[in-house]
Amino acid sequence: MAIAGAWVSGAYAMEACSTASHPPPANDAASADAPIEAATALDSGGPSDAPSASHDATVPPEAGDASDAGDAADANDAGDAGNASDAGDASGADALTDGSYACPTDGGLPAELSCTGLYADWATKTVSPSAIPYTPGFILWSDGAVKSRWISLPPNTQIDTTNMDDWVFPVGTKIWKQFALGGQLVETRLLWKQQAAQWTYADYRWASDGSSAPLLTNGEQNVNGTTYEIPSLNQCPSCHGGRLDAVLGFDIVGTGVPSAQGLTLAMLAGQGLLTQPPPSTAIAIPEDSTMLAAAALGWLHVNCGVSCHNANPNAMGGPSRLYLKLLAGEMYPEAGVAQVSLLDSYTTSVGVLSNLTPNGQHYLRIAPGDAGQSLIPLMDTARGDASFKPMPPIVSNIPDTADVAAVMAWINAL
Ligand code: HEC
Repeated sequence: MAIAGAWVSGAYAMEACSTASHPPPANDAASADAPIEAATALDSGGPSDAPSASHDATVPPEAGDASDAGDAADANDAGDAGNASDAGDASGADALTDGSYACPTDGGLPAELSCTGLYADWATKTVSPSAIPYTPGFILWSDGAVKSRWISLPPNTQIDTTNMDDWVFPVGTKIWKQFALGGQLVETRLLWKQQAAQWTYADYRWASDGSSAPLLTNGEQNVNGTTYEIPSLNQCPSCHGGRLDAVLGFDIVGTGVPSAQGLTLAMLAGQGLLTQPPPSTAIAIPEDSTMLAAAALGWLHVNCGVSCHNANPNAMGGPSRLYLKLLAGEMYPEAGVAQVSLLDSYTTSVGVLSNLTPNGQHYLRIAPGDAGQSLIPLMDTARGDASFKPMPPIVSNIPDTADVAAVMAWINAL
């Protein structure tokens, strides 16, 4: 049975990213395999980030109908996009008579996480060897969720790094990001490059007992009675559309700085996975005399710059001309000692008057020496406050107080 499913980015690269929801063609999807046992804890496999709150919820597993048998665990096959039908068309979900599910065999988007290729064995939640764990050196705040990430590149492919600021991934690439709250898995997001210039977005919602994780199209508010929010699939391109090839955190900064874990820039280069090796695999964010700049700039890069506040045509924050994305060319030690004060992140923010006038007042984006009068941290910590527009404007309901404090410390030291 067809399930309304994942958004496909389609030709979003040519669309303006001004719509919060790209109206993508509906997909349908297919289903998966047998409900098995629980795995309520954090998943095996990769490095994960921050700790946090707790919840979970229930989404009715999308049952399918029919029957065919599928070989679930074969990730890269599923990723073979050659036959991906139009825009994220998914494959038939097949419920077997015993209530379990068979994975689709037509290359379409599965309706169950177990069929996406992340797990070699669903029963034991054993991650497939082709899904390589990584954690970017700087991560997006997700209201305290702990996240794990894996990337799967099809065999014998490379990431096109001709443009070091916007890598182009091979067709068939899959990246998963898994979220846990209070030690319990909640959602696993999938970015899947089914065809050139076509990324499929999917989100799988874990059952509280870990037995299944069906596709969730419309998101979920107040997960487990908390403020945690799972985005709907039409919200994914609001952020991911701001990059030429959709991927946000697996970039030269995220993989190249010393705090990167798992699959790093050095490993990518060493394994021949990049068409153009970078001049250096040791990426360093410039520092200034405060010694507080790099942490602040790294946080701003991944939380604001990679998605929206950059100069790409579809970046939603582009029109503001506040550019917080760190550019590759500034990060190599060989490039000389890049000065903080020359970075876009600095020149478009420090001492720059915002065109927003919250409470009828004018603010500098960053007022040197005065974080309390700097609009960036004021907006970054605003939530449900009518005075300041909260940033990011979607999905987050709890501010990243600790990390914004680091940004404020830098501002106060300027
Ligand atoms: C508010 C902006 C935002 C929204 C909305 C959003 N993402 Fe992301 N996503 C990010 C950022 C920033 C990163 C990189 C940082 C990280 O991994 O912590 C990321 C990372 C990812 C990754 C890891 C690969 C990568 O791009 O770095 C996947 C997979 C992913 N997101 C899937 C999704 C899906 C699917 C949706 C919609 C259900 C979605 N995201 C919605 C901002 C967003």
